[in-house]
Amino acid sequence: MKLVLFTLALSLALPVAAESIGDQHPIFDGANRPENINKTGDSSNEVEVLHWWTSGGEALSVNALKEMMEEKGHKWKDFAVAGRAGESAINTLRIRALSGNPPDVAQIKGPEIQEWGTLGFLTNIDDVAEEQRWSELVPARVSDYLKVDGHYVAAPFNIHRVNWLWANPEVFAKAGAKLPQTLDDFFVAAEKIKAAGFIPLALGSEAWQETTLFESIALAVMGTDDFRKAFTEHNSDLLTGEKMRETLLTLRRMKLYTDADSPGRNWSDTTSLVIEGKAAMQMMGDWAKGEFLAAKKVFGKDYVCIPAPGTANQFSFNIDSFVFFKNSDPQKTASQKELAKLILDPGFQREFNRSKGSIPVRVDIDMTSFDPCAQDAMQAFLRAATTDNLVASLSHNMAIGRASQVALFDVISRYYNNDEVDIDETMRHIRAAVLADKL
Ligand code: GAL
Repeated sequence: MKLVLFTLALSLALPVAAESIGDQHPIFDGANRPENINKTGDSSNEVEVLHWWTSGGEALSVNALKEMMEEKGHKWKDFAVAGRAGESAINTLRIRALSGNPPDVAQIKGPEIQEWGTLGFLTNIDDVAEEQRWSELVPARVSDYLKVDGHYVAAPFNIHRVNWLWANPEVFAKAGAKLPQTLDDFFVAAEKIKAAGFIPLALGSEAWQETTLFESIALAVMGTDDFRKAFTEHNSDLLTGEKMRETLLTLRRMKLYTDADSPGRNWSDTTSLVIEGKAAMQMMGDWAKGEFLAAKKVFGKDYVCIPAPGTANQFSFNIDSFVFFKNSDPQKTASQKELAKLILDPGFQREFNRSKGSIPVRVDIDMTSFDPCAQDAMQAFLRAATTDNLVASLSHNMAIGRASQVALFDVISRYYNNDEVDIDETMRHIRAAVLADKL
């Protein structure tokens, strides 16, 4: 079943590679079976790390880990694949794994960890977790994602909040607009900002960015319970009901406040529009803060963070993690485990998360040296945990696996980019997309 799921995801994401595998076997042909992978030829204290942290803020953050690894005497071979919030990196990973040559370490998160782990690709890192007492330091909501059959296979970095709005207060002041608390407020502000000659909403029209916006609107319109029932319990009435219709209509209405250069623009260039005062707002997870910080912008004066309109009580979470591919060289395994350990190191947790925009995944990190957005995020996380308003992110691979994710991106993007696409048909396709993982 998992093999079928993985193959389906593969065929959706990688039509060419999937065709070339042939009909004999869904994935493996012998040499590429996880148990036969016996990487040789590279130096054993070197770890090749596949990730997608390539924007200004992201690169600064991951470099801290690279430096720490090198200080410990290990070599870091960087394999960064930019683009589409990891979709390009994951496609590359599939090609490498299928050819029997996976990297040593890869950025994978959410249910996809299970997909790779169940196929036998990942190293058990229970010993690292035990030594660092992860079970006491990492919230259970997080550690559930990190285990396969009860064993740790992934090391978590952080908790990102997806439902944020980033705003340029000077642009708001020039337009005489108020920061929006609700969706209605959003449209009032957007009209004023547009009339004043600024771009109201910075959005890069890529499927994952459109779906990130869709997610924040859906949280506000549907509320936590119905959002969960729809996207995690796959309640058919909700997936095709009136609240879904309103979500989709709101998404199309927001498009009217984006700029003509939006198609294909990446997320960090999109954040730059807010940084440079060309646009007023961007709805994006708090990795966007990493770009304001890398550009040396000052909280309160140059930028502010508020919850995405209508979602103040909710926290859509997105957890970044690294997994470690099996190999037969004990020295390399030791380097991989050293890396896993460094990720949870308290000093690294502080440094990484302060520049990445997320909050630490360890509950014992003192937040006083963090900026107001991070402190707000921590408060919002704790509040959402006690009021049952923590929601696994739909657009960032936490609520659904790869097959559903790819299908959902496609449906939302098709709807967003073509006003002729029918809303009822789109709702039926959303329902089919979230069920794709189950096939
Ligand atoms: C997300 C990832 C974040 C951030 C973002 C944009 O999927 O979790 O850490 O990097 O992509 O690249």
